[in-house]
Amino acid sequence: MNPVHYQPEAGIAWITINYPPVNAMSVAVRDGLLGAVKAAEADNMSHGIICCEGRTFVAGGDISEFGRPPQQPHLPDVYNYLEASPVTWLAAMHGTVLGGGFELAMACDYRVALQNTRFGLPEVTLGLVPGAGGTQRSPRLLGVELAIDLTTSGRMINATDLLQAGGLDSIIEGELKAGAIEFLQNAGPAPQQVSQREIAPLTSDFFETKKQPVLKAAKGATAPLHNLEAIKWATETSFADGQKKERTLHLQLRNSEQSVALRHAFFAERAVSKPVIIKDTTAREFSNITIVGGGLMGAGISAACLNAGLNVHMIEVDKDAATAGKQRVIKLLDGALKRGKLSRSQYTRHCEALSAGTDYSAARETDIAIEAVVEDLEVKQGVFRSLAEHVPANTIIATNTSYLNPTEIAKGIKNPERILGLHFFSPAHIMKLLEIVNTPATSTEVLATAFAFAKKLRKVGALSGICDGFIGNRMLAAYRRQADYLLADGATPQQIDSAMRNFGLPMGPYELQDLTGLQIGWANRKRLAPTRDPAQRYISIADQLCELNRFGQRSGMGWYRYENGDRTPLPDPLVNDIISNWSAENNINRRNFSEKNIQQSLIAVLANEGARILEEGIAERALDIDMVKIHGYGYPRWRGGPMHTAEQLGKDTIKSILADVTAQSPDSWKIAEIYQ
Ligand code: COA
Repeated sequence: MNPVHYQPEAGIAWITINYPPVNAMSVAVRDGLLGAVKAAEADNMSHGIICCEGRTFVAGGDISEFGRPPQQPHLPDVYNYLEASPVTWLAAMHGTVLGGGFELAMACDYRVALQNTRFGLPEVTLGLVPGAGGTQRSPRLLGVELAIDLTTSGRMINATDLLQAGGLDSIIEGELKAGAIEFLQNAGPAPQQVSQREIAPLTSDFFETKKQPVLKAAKGATAPLHNLEAIKWATETSFADGQKKERTLHLQLRNSEQSVALRHAFFAERAVSKPVIIKDTTAREFSNITIVGGGLMGAGISAACLNAGLNVHMIEVDKDAATAGKQRVIKLLDGALKRGKLSRSQYTRHCEALSAGTDYSAARETDIAIEAVVEDLEVKQGVFRSLAEHVPANTIIATNTSYLNPTEIAKGIKNPERILGLHFFSPAHIMKLLEIVNTPATSTEVLATAFAFAKKLRKVGALSGICDGFIGNRMLAAYRRQADYLLADGATPQQIDSAMRNFGLPMGPYELQDLTGLQIGWANRKRLAPTRDPAQRYISIADQLCELNRFGQRSGMGWYRYENGDRTPLPDPLVNDIISNWSAENNINRRNFSEKNIQQSLIAVLANEGARILEEGIAERALDIDMVKIHGYGYPRWRGGPMHTAEQLGKDTIKSILADVTAQSPDSWKIAEIYQ
């Protein structure tokens, strides 16, 4: 069926695009649109309206086509034809008008939209520049400043702001089609085509001054700068030449590593919430959440639930702790109110939906109960028993543990199918990731509800099975262990941190430990000591730092030193001495590691641990691991996640790096089957 419908009606040529789910500009839509415009011309129509069925106006080019050679008709040709058409075209928009959708609107003579419509040129988030005139028409329509802002950030703009910037001719109150007809009836002669408009002259250093801020915000992604460059073309060449250059660059970038990785991330972000195990399972309804524990974690989870419109009851050990816990949540809400993230009425609702106390019987009506108390098996078991005594028999009971086994925590609890782990990341009201930990007894209905809960909280839910640290912290442990081997064998914390920052991570492993504190890692190493394989290399440098009370930023020193409460890590000769003494005591001849050595060995170790996680069935798919690392650990999105990076590097390359890693630390790594 043709996804584009053409119909002349009462003197207006109607073009309706109906290509679910988001009316993406696939080859069939491009073809249909071109045909419809030509049909309107053949009918000698003077005016036409382009609109879409379903939830949105065109939300962009068809991303799934980007991995293949482009097929005719090409989008820029379709839009140029449309713009030059003798028919006066109006785009009547709703939903999210993105990429190729916004480019379509800019090729029309008029643009009207419903109030809650949002617009953007998000190609940059896919490692691209727009491919159909977006960078050449937007500065002519919106001005260079806004065009740079939209194309380099990929952010969306609302209808009011777009109207103010001249990008919309009218915001339609009420019914869109009726409003569009009325607009056309009152419109005078068609305005000048966008591609023919002049751009106001700029100062000679204008683009030079834009470069640094764009580069800084890009954090290693290359597409933002490409977009800036493409906007510059609009200011120095004709539309036709600028568009040609834009198209060439767009097609080139489609094959770039970054764009391939970002497209992988785009589809993985959608697939991660749909693990095979919950296919066709309906989630339960939920509105009342009980959180046990009002510390940093419990307060963050409470705020996240309130922000999602849920009701929260917090339970603490005594009255003072309950009051303090509630205060902690209110403080987070206060901050959001101050920053304009919450309206006054939302703030009031959230405060009313929050209660705190000490009595578990207040949890009678709970749909989901989450324990967020100290990381201690017995304490958590006690909380689970108290919850199970008071909540309805099928209420979901979750543990927020980072390392402990949820099955152990739930030992003796009736109806184990309602038990699972919900591993939040700190600060829980901000961090996107939620690891959903499946136990052998958890029902698929409970898992599906957990994914619905993650979605409600606007988090990326990722399914994990049970192992020490689940997906994320297990990967982190492997990464840190290899970093420690590099340290023991010759690298410095500064070298390793700088290598990983240059790789695209926001921080290196040692700066990060200083930020989060060395205590948890120390406690974990002690916990694991009895079961650690004695043949595995163990680097006790971090333990030595802890023994010297060097716990990181909060204690003023850790792997680095900090002066006057400043957070800038300063190299500490004392730490470097501790490290080289450790090497000497262990008969290690320290050697040099290049930045590439450091990066590759850490990535290979991540790839190996990820492969083992997959082989053990802890993760269902490689993409789940990628999403955990991107949304919980700052792995650069433009690298697609460690499993994607490994795939791009190729199995043989990883294999050979792992051979070096194993030679450096014999008997210390279990190598995944695929890398043997
Ligand atoms: N091309 C191909 N498929 C697309 C698409 C596009 N431009 N945009 C969305 N989809 C698909 C998604 O993969 C998803 O497929 P699935 O149901 O098989 O998982 C489906 O459409 C719905 O998208 P989803 O993101 O889950 O819906 P939403 O309502 O939360 O968000 C959008 C809708 C349009 C805001 C969001 O999908 C989006 O930002 N899309 C990308 C827009 C873009 O980058 N356009 C420029 C392309 S150059």
